[in-house]
Amino acid sequence: MSLSIGIHDLSFATGEFVLPHTALAAHNGTEIGKYHLGIGQESMSVPAADEDIVTLGATAAAPIIARHGAERIRTVVFATESSIDQAKSAGVYVHSLLGLPSATRVVELKQACYGATAALQFAIGLVQRDPAQQVLVVASDVSKYELDSPGEATQGAAAVAMLVGVDPALVRIEDPSGLFTADVMDFWRPNYREAALVDGHESIGAYLQAVEGTWKDYTEQGGRTLEEFAAFCYHQPFTKMAYKAHRHLLNYCGYDTDEAVIARALGHTTAYNRVIGNSYTASVYLGLAALLDRAEDLTGRPLAFLSYGSGSVAEFFAGTVVAGYREHLRTDANRRAIDRRTEVDYARYRDLHEWRFPTDGGDHATPEQTTGPFRLAGISGHKRLYQAR
Ligand code: CAA
Repeated sequence: MSLSIGIHDLSFATGEFVLPHTALAAHNGTEIGKYHLGIGQESMSVPAADEDIVTLGATAAAPIIARHGAERIRTVVFATESSIDQAKSAGVYVHSLLGLPSATRVVELKQACYGATAALQFAIGLVQRDPAQQVLVVASDVSKYELDSPGEATQGAAAVAMLVGVDPALVRIEDPSGLFTADVMDFWRPNYREAALVDGHESIGAYLQAVEGTWKDYTEQGGRTLEEFAAFCYHQPFTKMAYKAHRHLLNYCGYDTDEAVIARALGHTTAYNRVIGNSYTASVYLGLAALLDRAEDLTGRPLAFLSYGSGSVAEFFAGTVVAGYREHLRTDANRRAIDRRTEVDYARYRDLHEWRFPTDGGDHATPEQTTGPFRLAGISGHKRLYQAR
């Protein structure tokens, strides 16, 4: 008998500050309609100087550990494309901040924004092999482009933590998956750069190619038909991309591309991404969180997921919403994570964007800015020093 494996719990965290797109538009003279309608973004989360992918990841995961304990967790997979170290997994810091047992394997995974879906699928494989164990998947990213570049309006920051195990309380993940890989240079970040490089329009084309490629493989593998899905959770570098992707998929399948039909299929999946911005690996699962929090009862309904990571690797897969899921949602906490952010003006945002640690190996304290439960207190001898409050 095949096991029911999937997402048992899901929690997210985002940055301390928020920059409304109206402030960015006023600075660079852009007509606000381009941001609100053209790319579908209203505001972007901006991390404090003492926040990073580790503090965001630990903040997202802490409520999961508080609710379920750590006894069954034997693996932590940390997915990111804004890594802080070339050797040590950011997950090891999270493991330490959360006080997880030493009998745990911890690893970091990278393939641009697709990393969290790889982590989820690997987690499912591990649980299949040992159904007694649970896997903690943490997807955490700070999306950063150059100031005054076209990508700047699509920045953001967030982490999603998911507990993966048998008999999940939220979503059962199904086989098959539709897979697609193509060697393209649409978005990349060489090791010596902090901000990503992107060929924006090329990247949209590459994403749409991947939608086609994954769907083709998904149907060849015997997947569901389009009509069966209650909603579609797309990777959302900006929320308008989900509309472009779904329109492309409908066209490819020979269907009408009426805007109302597309809006219905996306359901509420864009609500959190629209105000948080691009969170890279976390983005598609923020879409899921928003859908589960806001949609009418989805019990027993299949959901579609399209995960895209530049470079590029993509996966189309399905999950079915489990009976009783609403009792396990974190809707109020999710709302609070968004509402608690302090709005900054353009000058403050620019200072935060330009903040860097000196790289001289000395002792450097970080300004105390975050009000969250974990902070990056400083750096000493090239070692990052974290603090739990
Ligand atoms: N009112 C309403 N709409 C307006 C408008 C106005 N006043 N002015 C412009 N628009 C519309 C445009 O018509 C356009 O819509 P369509 O795409 O539907 O034609 C939209 O606003 C954007 O306008 P431009 O294409 O002129 O904007 P741009 O040149 O500044 O670039 C971008 C937009 C390419 C998305 C850029 O922000 C960028 O490079 N972003 C980063 C890369 C990215 O997110 N790529 C997505 C795919 S890659 C991926 O998914 C991985 C990842 O996470 C990075």
